[in-house]
Amino acid sequence: MTQPIANSESDFNHASKSLDSFAPHLLDWFEINGRHDLPWQQHQTDTPNPYVVWLSEVMLQQTQVTTVLPYFARFMKSFPTVQDLAAADWDTIAEHWAGLGYYARARNLHKGAKQLVDIINETGEFPQTLAGWEAISGVGPSTAGAIMAMGLHRYGVICDGNVKRVLTRWAAIDGDITKSATTKELWALAERLTPRESSGLFAQAMMDMGATLCTRSKPACLLCPLQDDCLAHAQGRETDYPVKAKKQPKPSKFSNALLIKDAGGNILWLQRPDNGIWGGLWSLPLQFVEKIEGKASVKTTGKKQVANDAKQSNVSSDSRSKEKIYEAEFTTAEQIINEWLAENDLVTESVSNSLLNDAPIKHSLTHFHWYLQPQSLVIDTKQMADLKNKLDTADIECKWLDKQKARDSLGLPRAMIKIIEI
Ligand code: ADE
Ligand code: SF4
Repeated sequence: MTQPIANSESDFNHASKSLDSFAPHLLDWFEINGRHDLPWQQHQTDTPNPYVVWLSEVMLQQTQVTTVLPYFARFMKSFPTVQDLAAADWDTIAEHWAGLGYYARARNLHKGAKQLVDIINETGEFPQTLAGWEAISGVGPSTAGAIMAMGLHRYGVICDGNVKRVLTRWAAIDGDITKSATTKELWALAERLTPRESSGLFAQAMMDMGATLCTRSKPACLLCPLQDDCLAHAQGRETDYPVKAKKQPKPSKFSNALLIKDAGGNILWLQRPDNGIWGGLWSLPLQFVEKIEGKASVKTTGKKQVANDAKQSNVSSDSRSKEKIYEAEFTTAEQIINEWLAENDLVTESVSNSLLNDAPIKHSLTHFHWYLQPQSLVIDTKQMADLKNKLDTADIECKWLDKQKARDSLGLPRAMIKIIEI
């Protein structure tokens, strides 16, 4: 995707005078009131390091500065250069990322590091163009603009969520920001406002403004360097912007998280497949559970369920599609485990009728809320050997580790850390 270019000044809700004074007002504010001590900032050096900006921007894509800070420090300590990151094994990266969420970012980071090293080996330097950066995994148009501006001190324009909030308010842009026409309009405005010479400072200033003054629910307009021209502020309608189509309420899903323990307290851990939730991280085996009128029933296998569905032609299409979703969410390893549990009569009453409404772990993902109920199951030596054999035969990556060791040595998603802390 390339950044669109404004057609003419008349496309904007402000006159040229306001458009021209935006950057000077913002930059004056930034100099005195902005953040200048964030560890990834490169505006006070003449030799900016694009690696640092790329890494931090990916981390900051969906996560706040205060959360990112300790993660960024650990990454820089373990992987001081892009070559170190490219050469690291995935488990080490996953373990460093664990808890930051949106794990696709970590996988893109690893892939992107390898792409960058290839480019450096070929050309002797990091990509120097917007298109060059957009070709890197996980780098969208705004991140690419940020890297150009802040990481290379070249010209670059950003238009991320923070910028969109500031600009829709400042220019009273009524369009739905999830629509492409509005996105285009916002990019054109961002481009018109960004100064050619100091786009890096401008990008950093916009980020700071959005994060510290023009906040989602309580913008501090009285401290804002843009208040004189802000159309939303003039009408007292700051929080009416940005306009965003109402999201559908998220559905809820329920799962048991199985703590299958041997007599020595070692627990079975599975590595999640690369695609899907927690891709590449380690998790307890999960049983997706369908709630039926307050009771919960465990699906022992996805396959059997589909077979049943096919026979039951009177099942409503709604509940059938639900079954399908559940089936798709079983990994092969979980199917084997669930079948094995059923064969061994280990699916106890307490598992199948767990009161998932009170599940202690609630985890909100992009498309659903996920309720997780830990279930402990101690198995004897013979059962352990049998299960291990089943998993080995199917070539399943698994580990038997107690809670502490799992925490210390595996990349665990935050929900799993919560479970073992209970
Ligand atoms: N959000 C995204 N990038 C950022 C940055 N460089 N500084 C502060 N907040 C950010
Ligand atoms: Fe945001 Fe208020 Fe500034 Fe307008 S005046 S840009 S609403 S902080």
